[in-house]
Amino acid sequence: MNDLQRLLGYREPIFNAPMAGAAGGALAAAVSAAGGVGMIGVSGSPQKTWIEEQVSHVAELDTPWGVGFMAWSLEQDLAPLENFLEYSPALVSLSFGDVTRGAALAHEAGVLTAMQVGNAAELERSMQDDIDIIVVRGGEGGGHGRNEVGTLPLLQLATAQQVKPVVAAGGIGTAHGMAAVLAAGAQAAWVGTRFLSATESLGHENFKKAARAAGMDQTVYTRAFDIAQQLAWPAEFGGRALRNEFSDAHQDLSSWEATSDLREEMVQARAQAREQIAPVYAGQAVEFVRAETSAAQVVTELAGFRQILREAAGRFS
Ligand SMILES: Cc1cc2nc3c(=O)[nH]c(=O)nc-3n(C[C@H](O)[C@H](O)[C@H](O)COP(=O)(O)O)c2cc1C
Repeated sequence: MNDLQRLLGYREPIFNAPMAGAAGGALAAAVSAAGGVGMIGVSGSPQKTWIEEQVSHVAELDTPWGVGFMAWSLEQDLAPLENFLEYSPALVSLSFGDVTRGAALAHEAGVLTAMQVGNAAELERSMQDDIDIIVVRGGEGGGHGRNEVGTLPLLQLATAQQVKPVVAAGGIGTAHGMAAVLAAGAQAAWVGTRFLSATESLGHENFKKAARAAGMDQTVYTRAFDIAQQLAWPAEFGGRALRNEFSDAHQDLSSWEATSDLREEMVQARAQAREQIAPVYAGQAVEFVRAETSAAQVVTELAGFRQILREAAGRFS
C-alpha cells in the first residue's frame, strides 16, 4: 500500500478526473464504489440545488470522493468551494489559475488539496505547503490545461522530488498506460477521457458517440471554443477537444473575432448537442473509448495493471 492509498483509503489507484459537464455525482459515486476515488467536476458558479443533487450520489458512500474546481473561477467567487466543503469531501482539486485562496479554505476545513500542474513552473508552485497532492497533467490530456509538456517527462521530474505524492494525468486509457505511469513513480492515475462514454457520465449521447468514433489523431488543442463563447479562461489554458467543423474553420485565431451571434450559435449548438460545432472535450486517449460501459467496468479494466507489471518484471529480471 502506498502513502496516498493509506492517506485516502481507496483500493484502486484510479481517480476519475473532475470533468465539468461529464463527471457529476453519479460518475464519482460509481468510481468510488468500484474502489477508486470519484471526483465531481465543477464549472463556474453552480446553483446550490445542483450541488445538493451531485452530493446526494456520494453522501452515503463509505469510500472517499472529491471535487475539482477551476482556480481562475474560484478567484472570482469562492462560494462553490464553501458549499462543497459543508459535505466533507476527502479531497479538493484546484487547477488552472491561482490556487492560494482555495487551498487555504480547504485546509481550514481539514480537507486535502490537489493541484494539476502542466509545466515545471507549476510543479514548483505545487511544492508549497498548501498543496498535498501533485497531479502531473501532460498536454495529451483532454479538456482544459496547458499544452507544453507531455505526461511522461513531467512525471519523471515530479517523482524525483520524493516529498509529495504524485498522481499522473493525461493520455492514460488502458491497463498498460496505468502500468507505465505507476512504474514511473506515480502513486495513482487521474483518468478523464476514458470515462467519457461511461453510462454514468453526464455527457449527451451525441458527444459520447463522437468520442467512441474518434481516434487519437482526431483531437485538437485550441482556444477557439472559449473565444467563441467569450469565456474568461486565461489564455495559457486552451483545451483539447475532438476536431470538428468549427475547430477546423477557426484554426487561425487572428482571422476572426468573437461576436454575440457566434456566441449564440455556440450556445445553441451545445444545447442541441451538435458535435460538429460544439466542443467535445477529449484527449488522445479517446482512441480507447470504444463502447458505452459502466464506470465500474472501466475501473476493472484499468486495474489490470497489476498483471502487466508482474509480467514486465518477469521479462526483465
Ligand atoms: C470533458 C472534460 C472536462 C474536463 N473538465 C475539467 C474540470 O472541470 N476541472 C478540471 O480540473 N479538469 C477538467 N478536465 C481535465 C481533467 O481533469 C484531466 O486533466 C484530463 O482529463 C486528463 O487527461 P485524459 O483526459 O487524457 O485522461 C476535463 C477533461 C475533460 C476530458
